[in-house]
Amino acid sequence: MVNNNPASSVYSVEMELLNLDYSFQGLSPDELAEFAQKKLPANFESLRHQLLNGEFENKTENRKVSHCLNRSIHNVVKAGNGKNRFTEIVRQLRSGQWLGATGKVITDVVNIGVGGSDLGPMMGSFALKEFADDNSLHTLHTHFVSSMDGGQLYAVLPIIDPETTVFIIASKSFGTIDTLANVNTVKAWTKSKLTEQQWLERHVIGVSANNQTMTDFGIPPAQQLSFADSVGGRFSLWSAIGLSIALTVGANQFGKMLDGAKAIDDHFANAPVLENIPLLLALIGVYNREVREINNLAILPYDGRLRYLPSYMQQLDMESNGKQASYDNKSITTPTGPIIWGGYGPNGQHAFFQHLHQGWDSFTADFIAVLHRKAPNFSEDVQRSLREQQRLAVSNCLAHRKLMWEGFQSHQDPRNAYVGGHPTNLLYVDELTPQSFGALIAAYEHKVFTQGVIWDINSFDQPGVEKGKKCAVEILEVIDGNAQETFDPSTDSIIKRM
Ligand code: F6P
Repeated sequence: MVNNNPASSVYSVEMELLNLDYSFQGLSPDELAEFAQKKLPANFESLRHQLLNGEFENKTENRKVSHCLNRSIHNVVKAGNGKNRFTEIVRQLRSGQWLGATGKVITDVVNIGVGGSDLGPMMGSFALKEFADDNSLHTLHTHFVSSMDGGQLYAVLPIIDPETTVFIIASKSFGTIDTLANVNTVKAWTKSKLTEQQWLERHVIGVSANNQTMTDFGIPPAQQLSFADSVGGRFSLWSAIGLSIALTVGANQFGKMLDGAKAIDDHFANAPVLENIPLLLALIGVYNREVREINNLAILPYDGRLRYLPSYMQQLDMESNGKQASYDNKSITTPTGPIIWGGYGPNGQHAFFQHLHQGWDSFTADFIAVLHRKAPNFSEDVQRSLREQQRLAVSNCLAHRKLMWEGFQSHQDPRNAYVGGHPTNLLYVDELTPQSFGALIAAYEHKVFTQGVIWDINSFDQPGVEKGKKCAVEILEVIDGNAQETFDPSTDSIIKRM
């Protein structure tokens, strides 16, 4: 349903799982319809169909784009060679039936991965924790380790035990140095209590598109979960990479998250432009980038469960659309994807909002709100208080979004004046559930896809992250004393100090 009421200027799209209010964009539906006519290429429908059916070509990487085929638990299982390993592993670990090599019940799971093998799983596990199926007989603690320097291991290793911990090595390529470095440290740490064989046999699960490397590493076949090479890292939380989410909430709830994403796939496929949330998000974003020349978008969730959304969105959007070469590898001159930043909104109010309201810079923002929250596990008093807190957060969300657009004039005291004119969206859900969470993330995926199509770029490769990796290897060789190369005076002086 579209509310097109110029008198009150409420511009919104409501669907069962997700709602968008773009009243504070300063763009009417008519203007957006005209913009869509201008911007959406003639073959958009065909490309959208290809994406949703796993047929879109990722030309530079010479494969298809197939994450939309993973929107049901059945397909996640199928991708793992048809064997029901995914749900079986989830069942065993959550029920306390998975015993370590020395016969002890597994109490902790550590997901070791980075980028798409960390951000989506961590965000989903954190956001959906309270929806855990109550059929788990014991508590399974989930931890996430991604940092190359071992920073997170310093904190996690002292609170876990090799005999009662399973490590998920999550890496599409199974070759990412950050992940392998963390795995090496863990391997050394387990030696105090387990042999390498014991560790591999009962304490390691591999999740990758590279089966051979998992086998070479020594992971038993029953503990290898695979997914298609055509699922991009930043789109992989729907695949077996989402194992840690399933371990947190159960396979059933994980399936509901996939259902929510599927509902958005259908909405994206069928809703007309002005009732299509991902399409509107994309068109509004392109308008702000090209016409208003705003180079950044703040992601501001007002529900603490979504606090990892901004980091997730950074990879999803910036790794996909931060490019200057066209789909056919020609230089393009129009600006593409914006800088994504942000943070949990209410805390941002006490940190960076001052600059947003009264600083010099242009920005756009997506506010994300959850209108209602149930808290069934608490006493009536506490429930009432928690509901009040939710209303408090929503009212703050509405207040700041209003001020950012309308501004505030104060002639007597310029220090109290707000500039205003900052265009923002409000994405909101009635309740955060696995379905509405899946819908929100899939809507953003399709927004990014649509923008890539409009800008004629391949949103599914990431050539710009490779050079840095090669350069780091050359520098490490010198630091380790294996090479003599010199670089520049500054780099050389730091190497010397090491
Ligand atoms: O370096 C970027 C990247 O390739 C991301 O696209 C990816 O999500 C991340 O590294 C991790 O890759 P992998 O899952 O293969 O370890």
